[in-house]
Amino acid sequence: MKRFMDLPELDTGLVRELVATAKHLEKHPHSDALRGKVAGLLFMNPSLRTLASMQAGMAQLGGSSFVITPGQGSWGLETRPGVVMDGDAAEHVREAIPVLSQYCDVLAVRNFAKGKDLAEDAADAVIRRMADLSPKPFMNLESAMTHPCQSLADWKTLDDLDVPANEGRFVLSWAWHPKALTYAVPASTLNMAAQRGMKVTVLRPQGFALPGSVMATARALASKSGGSVFETDDVAAAMDGAHVLYAKSWCAPSAYGNPEADAALRASLREAWCIRESFFASARADAKFMHCLPVRRNVKVADEVLDGPRSVVVRQAGNRLHAQKAVLWKMLVDKE
Ligand code: CP
Repeated sequence: MKRFMDLPELDTGLVRELVATAKHLEKHPHSDALRGKVAGLLFMNPSLRTLASMQAGMAQLGGSSFVITPGQGSWGLETRPGVVMDGDAAEHVREAIPVLSQYCDVLAVRNFAKGKDLAEDAADAVIRRMADLSPKPFMNLESAMTHPCQSLADWKTLDDLDVPANEGRFVLSWAWHPKALTYAVPASTLNMAAQRGMKVTVLRPQGFALPGSVMATARALASKSGGSVFETDDVAAAMDGAHVLYAKSWCAPSAYGNPEADAALRASLREAWCIRESFFASARADAKFMHCLPVRRNVKVADEVLDGPRSVVVRQAGNRLHAQKAVLWKMLVDKE
């Protein structure tokens, strides 16, 4: 595997193989497997889990890593093609990525959506141009439209919890957030659950339906996997018999690139769309709560949920380590 860009691009059999490898590596350290290998980690945006788990994963497999955070100890990096570089960025990825690739065996990059132009972000073109500049294996650590490491870890978490694939009911719920957030995690999560074959419901208030292209991709995945994808603004209907509620916030497509318009649309939703225990009234008694983290307590999700028995958010974050080690293993050890 030369690139790890987005789960739907991978055959589902390969995704299941990666999850199986993650489960194996969780139990068996293989502490010499990547001896002498180096991961280059380029973070255009902040991180806690992804940064720490990539470094820990490389170290646990016997390798090492370096971290570049442009503008914070290294040159500001420009990603736009053909731009006149008379702003803050002193270096372009056209040089920086081939240079960094000479120092490492795998390059892993985080580059979020700009959040200004929906069509531009929906194409997820920046991370793909960056991957094309790297002669080394390339990992997407979250781009404009997907967070495949999170989704691979979440797939493993669902397996660990014995949440059924084809009969499992998965609710992706919008939650209130003070900022207009983009679509990487909700799109990636929706696709993961659809590709896993689950009965997926997107629960969101009026005006916050995910973009049509995102829903269409998920529906195509569900039709292949035997799953299904619905959407509603009715909490009780969405949560009826649910195994999982996965919370995330996202912006209104109609207000993309206009935070003030988005804030106006969400202004009246704060109280009703903070995830509380009452959301689970019609769910299975043992329904789980998932979130990728970071999360704003008592804004997006109430303490009673995060600190209660349903919450598996810390376990999800733990699985980031095993999932990314599985990707590194497939790229650098078992290269078939
Ligand atoms: N979930 C996740 O990717 O966390 P970080 O942004 O802290 O890496």
